[in-house]
Amino acid sequence: MQIERDKDLKRLNTLGLGVKCDWYAQPSSLDEVITLLKDKRFTSVPKLVTGSGSNILYNGDFKGLVIHPDIMEISISGKESDCIYIKAGAGIEWDNFVEWCVDRGWGGLENLSLIPGCVGASPVQNIGAYGCEVKDTIVSVEYVDIKTCEVNTLNTDDCKFGYRDSIFKHELKDRCVITFVTFKLAINPVPNISYKDVSERLSQVRNPGIADVRKAITDIRREKLPDPAVTGNAGSFFKNPVIPETDALKLREEYPSLKLFPASESYSKVPAAWLIEQCGFKGIREGNVGVHPNQALVLVAFEGATGEEILMLAQKIKRAVKTRFNIDIEMEVNVTASS
Ligand code: EPU
Repeated sequence: MQIERDKDLKRLNTLGLGVKCDWYAQPSSLDEVITLLKDKRFTSVPKLVTGSGSNILYNGDFKGLVIHPDIMEISISGKESDCIYIKAGAGIEWDNFVEWCVDRGWGGLENLSLIPGCVGASPVQNIGAYGCEVKDTIVSVEYVDIKTCEVNTLNTDDCKFGYRDSIFKHELKDRCVITFVTFKLAINPVPNISYKDVSERLSQVRNPGIADVRKAITDIRREKLPDPAVTGNAGSFFKNPVIPETDALKLREEYPSLKLFPASESYSKVPAAWLIEQCGFKGIREGNVGVHPNQALVLVAFEGATGEEILMLAQKIKRAVKTRFNIDIEMEVNVTASS
């Protein structure tokens, strides 16, 4: 296994921030993950596990070991009359995995097409888009405990999934290297086109299948969201705030164009993009950072941007939303400690 020193992370975080880490390792099997974690050189060194760096904001250089699990194995681990179980390695690019499943006619992940990142990161923030969340297809998650080097498997309930949330962001934060995720996919899938943008896009297609859904969502995302290869960004920078339904309905009385999304019982999700746009930030640029002109939830980083600059803009946006709407918006990206 290659372990690199003073690794430049600019191409390894989609915000494109020019930062470094002391050590960088890419274990490509379960055994290599365990060997790395047992390596005496790293016992007391801070560790950070990252997929493709699409949901991370490096607030300066990382003084420690960055681990990128590069496990690419994929296998069918079971089959029933109506579903198939796929065990996928943490290092597989998420969208390649979705494409692989859709090409075989196995449904459940097509609404999550083109989300940047790797398979191993998908359960951490319970990725979700266009009316689907990955938790609905995950059967189990295998990980190695960073301290004990034990291999554990959690089933869906153990993962404590919520909106952009899981046990991996709380009790197991910084404590595990996810190695494999097992998904249960439908052999005769019924496409979910409940999300308005998707149903509108497919209105001319008769009996759309999962490949049509994938194509529609890929097109929508390409139109709306910036390509990180061109403009640094980390997708949605904030989570959509979940507020009591009564408050949300009051807000909509005042602003009839506001779209609300159901959350848990008697709670609603308010689009953070709408709140940010109302506060006048959509499309702005301040120094080397800004807000995307097509989607106000996406902060963008231009050449030379620093993590600190992005955080300053994020704080400014948070304060403005709080002052105008009395709603707290929470960051969705993970921020590393400043060096
Ligand atoms: N809106 C605005 N201004 C904007 C953009 C959107 O007012 O600039 C309003 C519109 O009313 C729109 C509503 O917000 O109907 C929702 O917008 P959109 O469909 O783009 O979804 P979102 O809530 O902004 C979430 C996810 C995205 C996911 C989309 C589609 C979060 C934090 N983000 O965004 O996920 O692609 O739904 O399902 O929940 C990501 O996590 O990186 C990501 C892109």
